[in-house]
This record gives sequence, structure tokens and C-alpha cells, in this order.
Amino acid sequence: MPKITLQNMETKETKTFQVGYGANLRKTVLFHEGDVYKGLNKFLNCRGMGMCGKCLVEVEPMENSGPRSIIEDLHKIPGNQRLGCRAKVVGDVLVRAAIKD
Ligand code: FES
Repeated sequence: MPKITLQNMETKETKTFQVGYGANLRKTVLFHEGDVYKGLNKFLNCRGMGMCGKCLVEVEPMENSGPRSIIEDLHKIPGNQRLGCRAKVVGDVLVRAAIKD
């Protein structure tokens, strides 16, 4: 089972948990009471529809977060970042969350 190490860049908290192969990154982090959002974006987001761009996270290594989606290309997400709601966990990853206001 893949492991997520979650670093919240706003609160400086770090959490580690195991997830099922191919799990949705945003849903998994929220299920484990972590957060991908920064500040008021916890409440002002599109709930994983890929519309708001507020679930932006940095992922290392990138190849363990599944293929990029067309939605991420439309948002012009930089190469080292993913939308948490579009990323799937297929291997151990380090995730830096709460990076976008
Ligand atoms: S939650 Fe809005 S784009 Fe991911």
C-alpha cells in the first residue's frame, strides 16, 4: 500500500498514512483529517470538481501521482504541482499542501 507523507505548509504539521493503490489524493487526505486547502479555501472550494484550482499541492516524486489530467493543463499547473482532486496515489509520495491562497 502506498504511503503519503503530508506536510501542511500553513500549520507546519506533518502526517503519514497509508492509502489504497490509486486513491484520490484530495479525498484521502481529507479522510485522514489532513487538509489540502489553505485558509478560507477550506470552505470556498469546488469540492473536488476540478474547477477552482485551490487544492494545489506539490508532490514528490511526481511519477507516483498518476497521469496529469486535461483539467490541470487548462489550469496551467506547473510541472512539480498537482491538483489534489485530480491526482491518484500509485506509490509513496511526499505532499506539500496548503500552498495556495
Ligand atoms: S477542489 Fe477545486 S480544483 Fe480541486
